[in-house]
Amino acid sequence: MTKTAFSLNGKLIMVTGASSGIGRQCAVTCSRAGARVVLLGRDQARLKDTLNKMEDQDKHVIYSVDLIQYDRVAEIIKDLVAHKGRIYGLINCAGISTTLPLNAISPQKMEEFFRTNVIGAINLTKHAVKSAHFSETGGSVVFISSVMGVAGENGKTLYSMTKGALIAAVRSMAVELAPRKVRVNTVSPGVVESPMSRSAVYSKDEESLNRIRSLHPLGLGKPEDVANACLFLLSDEARWITGTNLVVDGGYLAR
Ligand SMILES: NC(=O)c1ccc[n+]([C@@H]2O[C@H](COP(=O)([O-])OP(=O)(O)OC[C@H]3O[C@@H](n4cnc5c(N)ncnc54)[C@H](OP(=O)(O)O)[C@@H]3O)[C@@H](O)[C@H]2O)c1
Repeated sequence: MTKTAFSLNGKLIMVTGASSGIGRQCAVTCSRAGARVVLLGRDQARLKDTLNKMEDQDKHVIYSVDLIQYDRVAEIIKDLVAHKGRIYGLINCAGISTTLPLNAISPQKMEEFFRTNVIGAINLTKHAVKSAHFSETGGSVVFISSVMGVAGENGKTLYSMTKGALIAAVRSMAVELAPRKVRVNTVSPGVVESPMSRSAVYSKDEESLNRIRSLHPLGLGKPEDVANACLFLLSDEARWITGTNLVVDGGYLAR
């Protein structure tokens, strides 16, 4: 096992969006910290690619699922607990992003984004944290939000409304689940180098990308920067932290 600052030794940790970018790195980082990881995403082949990068590959399990198939998600949780035992932690990383001016946003688009970025994640969390499924001594749930959940940019209404919703929902979940010592937090990254940011409009030409870089005093982030924050929030060292939004943005919001 590679040494990490924080330990998740033997703990069962679910990671959504594990087939790409930040979620992939979260799965790898959790495996290095000794966790048994449950990898969730739609693309089975890319989930397997993630597994190939992880430590102790036979300890982990893959479920290929679209998180907006809400009933299937409930079945997966039951199956998981029956075969692997109780869940200790969850990183809700799956998400979609776009840049669209307000007049191009339709109710259908709003529903699509809300379904994936908010309802899918909260539905999964609801099933995962049930008393019958979750660790009886407590645990930790992390939602990946974004600096766009608290700040504005041109064309980000659709994305921001979903990421802000997570930050708001987490506070109430944290209060509700605190009696069971289940902690719930968001992590809000600035722009991180990943397939998502590489396909964004600002990556299409060097001038736009330089403008985005200049908004991050420490430069753009790497998936590891976000995964390390998640590892901390999952670990016992964060045992008194709940209902908060941990900003991991290379100084974007400090400006
Ligand atoms: N990259 C950034 O700059 C940045 C900044 C702030 C916040 N974030 C947030 O960080 C998270 C991860 O972003 P990323 O950069 O790693 O993006 P990414 O490389 O595009 O990965 C997105 C992941 O979400 C999964 N996903 C999307 N819709 C899904 C669905 N309906 N059901 C199941 N899985 C689904 C994808 O699975 P499949 O590929 O298998 O379909 C993929 O694994 C997102 O929530 C994003 O909003 C990213």
